[in-house]
Order: sequence, then C-alpha cells, then structure tokens
Amino acid sequence: MRVLVTGGAGYVGSHAALQLAADGHTPVLLDNLSTGQRRLAQDFELIVGDVGNRAVVTAALRGVDAVMHFAASTEVGESVRDPRKYFENNIAASISLLEAVLQAGVRFFVFSSSAAVYGTPKSVPIGEQSPCDPDNPYGFSKLAIEQALKSYGAAYGLRSVSLRYFNAAGADEEGRIGECHDPETHLIPRALEAARSGTELEVFGDDYQTPDGTCVRDYVHVTDLARAHVAALSRLSAGGVPAVLNLGTGRGNSVLEVLGKVKQITGRGVRHRIAPRRQGDPPELVADPSAAERVLGWKPQLSLGEMISSAWRWMQRKQEFARASRG
Ligand code: UFG
Repeated sequence: MRVLVTGGAGYVGSHAALQLAADGHTPVLLDNLSTGQRRLAQDFELIVGDVGNRAVVTAALRGVDAVMHFAASTEVGESVRDPRKYFENNIAASISLLEAVLQAGVRFFVFSSSAAVYGTPKSVPIGEQSPCDPDNPYGFSKLAIEQALKSYGAAYGLRSVSLRYFNAAGADEEGRIGECHDPETHLIPRALEAARSGTELEVFGDDYQTPDGTCVRDYVHVTDLARAHVAALSRLSAGGVPAVLNLGTGRGNSVLEVLGKVKQITGRGVRHRIAPRRQGDPPELVADPSAAERVLGWKPQLSLGEMISSAWRWMQRKQEFARASRG
C-alpha cells in the first residue's frame, strides 16, 4: 500500500516509515520539519508541508491508500504553558487532515495516540476501558481526535485504529535513525547524556507510593511501536473493525531501575540527585497490552536493555554527525 505518514521525519513516524518499507509498503512522508529532521526521512519521498495545509495535504493524498498520522506537538509541560499550540496543531490541523482524507476517499487511518489520555489512573495496569481523564491539553488533544475518529467511523465509514503509546524509547536496532528531540525531556536519552558527559541528572521525586519511591513507567521500544502500526494497517485492510489499543509491555520500571540499567549497559554510572516532583507526573503508568495482542497479534519483542543499548549507539552516532558537521 502507498501510505502517507504525517510527522514522518519525527521520532516514531520515521521508525514507522522504515517498518512500512520493510514490510513491502511505500511510505510517503509529510512533515513541516518544525521538530522533525530531514536526516530521519532520507530514505523516502518527503513532502515538506503542514498537516493543516489543505492544498498540500490534498496533493499528498493522491494515490494514497492509507494514512498514519503522527504529526503533533508532544510535550506535556509545554501543552500546559501554551495550550493554543496543542489545540491548533493537534486538534484543528488533525480535523483539517481528516476532511482531506474523507474528500480523497482514503478509508484507512492509523492514529498516534497516547497513554496521556488516561490522566492519573485509579489503578494499574491500565486497560482501554479505564476512564479517560487527561491531566493536560496534550492528552486532551489526543482524546479529542480519537473521539472524532470514532464518530467519523460511524458516520462516514472511515476505518481507524488509535494506538495509545506508553513510554516510547530506544532507536532503530540497525542504528539508522533514533530520537532527536530538542530540548530532550525524556528520561532515557537524558540519562544516557548524563552517563556520556558526566553531568548530573535530576530525578523528579523519590517520595511516590512506589517500591523505591520514584515514578514507574512502561517503556516500549519504538520499533515495536512501528510494528504495531503496520499490524494495525493490515488489520484495517483485511476488514477489521475500528479499535483503540494500548501499546506497552505490561511491565513497569522505576526511574532508579532505568538508571541502574543504563550503568549496566554503558559501563558508566549516572550522577544524579533527587529533585522535587515534576508537576503532573502520575506515580505509576503501566499498560494492560492484552487487547493489542488479541486484536493485532502484536507483542513487544524488545527489552528495556535493548531500548537503552540502541539509544546509546544512536547517541554515539549523533555525536559523530555533530563532529563531522563541525569540521
Ligand atoms: N524523569 C526524571 N528526570 C528527567 C526526566 C524524566 O526523573 O530528567 C522521570 C519523570 O519524572 C517520569 C519518568 O522519568 O517519572 C519518565 O519521564 P519521561 O519524560 O521520559 O516520560 P513521561 O512519562 O513524562 O511521558 C511520556 C511521553 C508523553 C506521554 C506520556 C504518557 O513522553 O508524551 O509518557 O504516559 F504523554
């Protein structure tokens, strides 16, 4: 299938494009490069443009069988400080994309959603039937598009799968691409940077009701996420009904456990100090991923160790790129 991948020069979108190509599909990437990087898209056709630009999107949709929609603003903290950006980029632009998709007669749509739709859950592991009560505009924006997809499915026949990721981590195991956020806010790349440079990492709170007092998250390899997107597409094209699915491993790791694993893999300790809690961090987010296994036949294959070692190799590769471009 020819698949339009919005946000295809971003972290998860670029890995999905590689997986689509590996499985015999033709990805066409659309990215405005506001946070995406051309380097992550270099193997594929890239249209530089905005998801909210109807003329660009309509042209990009010619000959396309399906859309995978990743393009979005993705920083939880920023969404609280600057909500209009999230309402514009994640809701208004997605609704405009959906209009173009309906006009073009494209029937299959895979949506990059987030565990942020749940807010602070009352219990873990979190199943898809848990109440959705997002704590921030980012989570709300993802929930709004999930709900639009549900209504558009019932009213207009658009077939979609919304995938709620837990904590995406790691990099392509062959070292071709990886995470390039600026600023980087995520734990694993920050811990690796601290291990590399000897700078100090802040651990945001050690007084949570968790076994070691630090927050517990369900880290899932970005290549496993990419595989789930392609599996979702296969299911839709085979006539499967729309679905909303968690993507996680079902296993949680605390911040201190992640730091321990970083030390084991890199051979370098992470200097850290306990800092105050970060606003809006729930103590524990762990998926119940059984529906994704049942519906898509998807099971994560890569471990936390593989997430950290692939991210470490990618960090070294980025250092080489930076050195080469300096001189
Ligand atoms: N953390 C630190 N120090 C750091 C960075 C993070 O202690 O320097 C802690 C955080 O407090 C949190 C854990 O590490 O407890 C993981 O933090 P991340 O920033 O890596 O990820 P989040 O769990 O905050 O957020 C991720 C995605 C969001 C998504 C959310 C949904 O980045 O997009 O999961 O579960 F909304």
